[in-house]
Amino acid sequence: MKNKRPGKSSVSVAGVIAFFVLVAVIIQIAILTYDFIETKTENNGLIAILVLILVVILSTVIILCDIIRRKIMIDKPVKKILTATDKVANGDFNVELEIEHTLKNYNEYDFIMENLNKMFSELRKSEILKTDFISNVSHELKTPLFVIQSYAKQLEKGGLDKETEQKYAKSIVEASKRLSELISNILKLNKLENQDYIKEKEKVNLAESIANTVINFEEIIEYKEINLECDLDDVCVTSVPSYLEIVWSNLLSNAIKFTDKGGHIRISLKTENSQAIIKFIDTGCGISKEEGKRIFEKFYQAETSHSKEGNGLGLALIKKVIDILGGEISVESEVGRGSTFTIILEGN
Ligand SMILES: Nc1ncnc2c1ncn2[C@@H]1O[C@H](COP(=O)(O)OP(=O)(O)OP(=O)(O)O)[C@@H](O)[C@H]1O
Ligand SMILES: [Mg+2]
Repeated sequence: MKNKRPGKSSVSVAGVIAFFVLVAVIIQIAILTYDFIETKTENNGLIAILVLILVVILSTVIILCDIIRRKIMIDKPVKKILTATDKVANGDFNVELEIEHTLKNYNEYDFIMENLNKMFSELRKSEILKTDFISNVSHELKTPLFVIQSYAKQLEKGGLDKETEQKYAKSIVEASKRLSELISNILKLNKLENQDYIKEKEKVNLAESIANTVINFEEIIEYKEINLECDLDDVCVTSVPSYLEIVWSNLLSNAIKFTDKGGHIRISLKTENSQAIIKFIDTGCGISKEEGKRIFEKFYQAETSHSKEGNGLGLALIKKVIDILGGEISVESEVGRGSTFTIILEGN
């Protein structure tokens, strides 16, 4: 919620009135004192000294009032802000500044504190994301590294029959492939997240772009005896071909991975109200409603998939790309029946 800030001056009306009352009281005291002294003595020298003393006392009172005002209104919040920002500068983000006034009486310091609280909260969130990311990456690295190390050790020892040797070597190749896919996906995500500008867009024929991706999966589709049906209209959009390739290949790889042998996958491309609608439909294991809400998070893998392969980065990558391209992605799924991923892209 955005709070309304005060105008240029945030000096409170009560403060101004108090200041003028104080000055009026002091002037009044000075006049009364002068009158009193004048009636009591004819000695001009004494009057001058007494008036001087009075001026000094009154000035001291005003200065003291100002010091107290500064202490309460400026020094106190500034000290609070400094202590908090010192803590944050030293890496402690668990700081929350207590705002002293109610929203109606906010002054500039209250707004600064509120903004700082928001910044501290964002820092805390990104710190959690960072530590989660590091622990996820370490976890994902550990499994294939363990496979590589233990099988390589067995092969080094020797004395294995040919068949076991080949089995171990195959596991090492697969684990290293998994490692390289993980690293390549992390790099891609990092690049997409840190990019300040979007790559040059160009006219892309979506049917051609999808067909080119499908070709790369022909072997595995054949191996899994999957019945693949493509129903692609001739639709062109202005987009980034390499980004779209990330979307198609991850959606198709998921559809293949989570569909049993002999299953069915259908890819459809249509236009509706000048938008391109792309659907990847499979008859795979499906995803529950609860898990469906989380599948676009980095490293999230649903229980239903019982997936041992992959790292849960494909859909996070797709989501990032679709956000950059300004499109939409959604999923409809039923456990045991299959899933439909729908992408909407703006047409030309
Ligand atoms: N077509 C699908 N059918 C069933 N579950 C799916 C499907 N697509 C995604 N999921 C679920 O969503 C999770 C996240 O998908 P995502 O593509 O991000 O990761 P992954 O495929 O497990 O690993 P990676 O893509 O990094 O190789 C999957 O682990 C799976 O549980
Ligand atoms: Mg995937």
